[in-house]
Amino acid sequence: MPYPFDMTIKPHVSPFFDEATNTISYVVSEPDGDHCAIIDSVLDIDYAAGRLTYDSADALIAEVERRSLKLDWIIETHVHADHLSAAPYIQEKLGGKIGVGEKITVVQDTFGKIFNAGTEFQRDGSQFDALFKEGDTYQIGNMQAFVIATPGHTPACMVHVIGDACFVGDTLFMPDGGSARADFPGGDAGTLYDSIQKVLALPDDMRLFMCHDYGPNGRDIKWETTVAEEKAHNIHVGHGKTRDEFIKFRTERDATLDMPRLIIPSLQVNMRAGEVPRDQDGNEMLKVPLNKL
Ligand SMILES: [Fe+2]
Repeated sequence: MPYPFDMTIKPHVSPFFDEATNTISYVVSEPDGDHCAIIDSVLDIDYAAGRLTYDSADALIAEVERRSLKLDWIIETHVHADHLSAAPYIQEKLGGKIGVGEKITVVQDTFGKIFNAGTEFQRDGSQFDALFKEGDTYQIGNMQAFVIATPGHTPACMVHVIGDACFVGDTLFMPDGGSARADFPGGDAGTLYDSIQKVLALPDDMRLFMCHDYGPNGRDIKWETTVAEEKAHNIHVGHGKTRDEFIKFRTERDATLDMPRLIIPSLQVNMRAGEVPRDQDGNEMLKVPLNKL
C-alpha cells in the first residue's frame, strides 16, 4: 500500500538535545496553525542517587506554552533503552495522547519476564493511549502524519512521517554514524536492514530527524539530514550495501558494545509508557535483575 505522502506540508521542527543521553527530542508543529506533537521526550535521572528531575521535559513544555501551541500527541518512536520517557509528566501538564507501535506488547512480554513484573503489569499496551500499526495515519491539527513499522532495533520501532519531515527513531543515525544496534532482546540485524530500506525508499528530499547523535570523530552534534544524503553516504547502509554485508557487520559490531548506561531504569519505566513502577507499599521503586541482560 503506498504511503500518503504530502511533501508540500513543511512542519516547523524544534529540536532539543539532551547531553546526558545524546537524545534529540522534538516539538513538531503545523506550519500555519497551532497544533503540535512532541516526539521522544526525556525524563532526567541521576541513577546513582535514584533521583528523577524534569529540566528536559520542562524545556519542551515551555516551548509549547511560549508559542501557545496545542499538544495533540506525545509520540514514542520505540521503547528506549538509553533514556527514560517523560510522556506522563508532559501529558499531565499539556494533555495529548501517548502513542507507540502495536508491537509494544512483544516488548512488554519480553521485559515483563526479565524484570519479573508480576501480574499487575498488563502486557497488552493498555498503558498507552494509541497503538500504531504499519500505515496508520493520525492528525496533528490539519496535518496528517503516518507511521512506518521499522522493527529490527526493537520489535515496536516506528518511523513517523509528518509532511516532508520524517522522525527515524533508532533505525538510522547521521550518515557518519551509521545505524542503531540490533542485539537487544527482540532485535534482529536482517530485520533492521529491511526496515532501513523502507526509510531509504522515501522521497530523496524528505528531511530526516535523528533520535540520537554522538558526534563521531569529534564533529559537532547534528540531527538533520535527507534520504538522498543517507543513501549516498551512510557508512553502514549507503553505497548500496547488501543485506548480507550489513548483517555480518552489524552482528560483529554489536558483540563489542556495552549495554547502555541507563538500560535498567529505562526499560522498566518506558515499557509502562513512562510511569515509574511501584512496590507493594506504593513506593516508586526500580529493580536490578542480575545476569539477565
Ligand atoms: Fe533505542
